[in-house]
Amino acid sequence: MEKILSVSGLQKSYVTKGNTYPVLKGVSMEMNRGEFVAVMGPSGSGKTTLLNIVSGFLSADSGNVKVGSVDMLHTDKEKQAEIRSSILGFIFQDFMLIDGLTVQENIFLPQIIAKKPVADMEGKTRGLLCAFGIEDISGKYPGELSGGQKQRVAIARALSNEPLLILADEPTGNLDSKSSNAVIEAFLFAKEQLGATVLMVTHDAIAASHADRVIALSDGMVVRELVRQKEQRQFMNDILEFLKIVEVGQ
Ligand SMILES: Nc1ncnc2c1ncn2[C@@H]1O[C@H](COP(=O)(O)OP(=O)(O)OP(=O)(O)O)[C@@H](O)[C@H]1O
Ligand SMILES: [Mg+2]
Repeated sequence: MEKILSVSGLQKSYVTKGNTYPVLKGVSMEMNRGEFVAVMGPSGSGKTTLLNIVSGFLSADSGNVKVGSVDMLHTDKEKQAEIRSSILGFIFQDFMLIDGLTVQENIFLPQIIAKKPVADMEGKTRGLLCAFGIEDISGKYPGELSGGQKQRVAIARALSNEPLLILADEPTGNLDSKSSNAVIEAFLFAKEQLGATVLMVTHDAIAASHADRVIALSDGMVVRELVRQKEQRQFMNDILEFLKIVEVGQ
């Protein structure tokens, strides 16, 4: 198995008004190529902080993060930005599509940033538009799309660069259940058909039940890991069960 992500002993504190608040207290986790992993945990448990450190947006106090063979924490800022655009794909809760660009142009963006040749870009984008069933909206602007369509465009955009790892922070958080399903379908498609590796933070047990694994954070520590073995509904029940335990802080 090829390791795509390796996080070890990650510690992070925020300092506000002279007080130090530890947020990550030694987090370790790994992901193999082609895995779809969900991170769950109560609000404030450090999920977004973890994603921001993995992507190099935020520094850590100690520990290590490797994406592929790249040491994310110990490369200089400039190099890091370049690396980030070539090996990571991002999906945000509020999509972050650029309003003044069409769907197709939005999907072009990461490839432009990574300085990909234009000919490759067009072929790649066409393939993604078809794969996600959004060819007919390729000329539309984000303001003309539904929430589920926007999210599919965001996923196609995140994949356009063939990143080693896709990071998604609550990608279904603002969506109705139908659109949430479409997003999860898109992740499963990306994983199964395109070999994508996806790390998704979510509060949604249904969404998490489609992942291969669920990592539970509580108070800055990995407290539990659930591996999917049985049918999806059973997995969801297991997730709900352990969330109940984590939420009451046991
Ligand atoms: N820039 C910051 N400065 C100070 N404290 C912060 C900062 N960002 C986050 N925190 C604190 O760190 C803790 C973890 O925040 P984080 O955003 O990682 O949680 P989360 O698990 O993503 O929560 P949620 O489910 O609400 O998104 C919280 O207590 C938060 O208030
Ligand atoms: Mg968060």
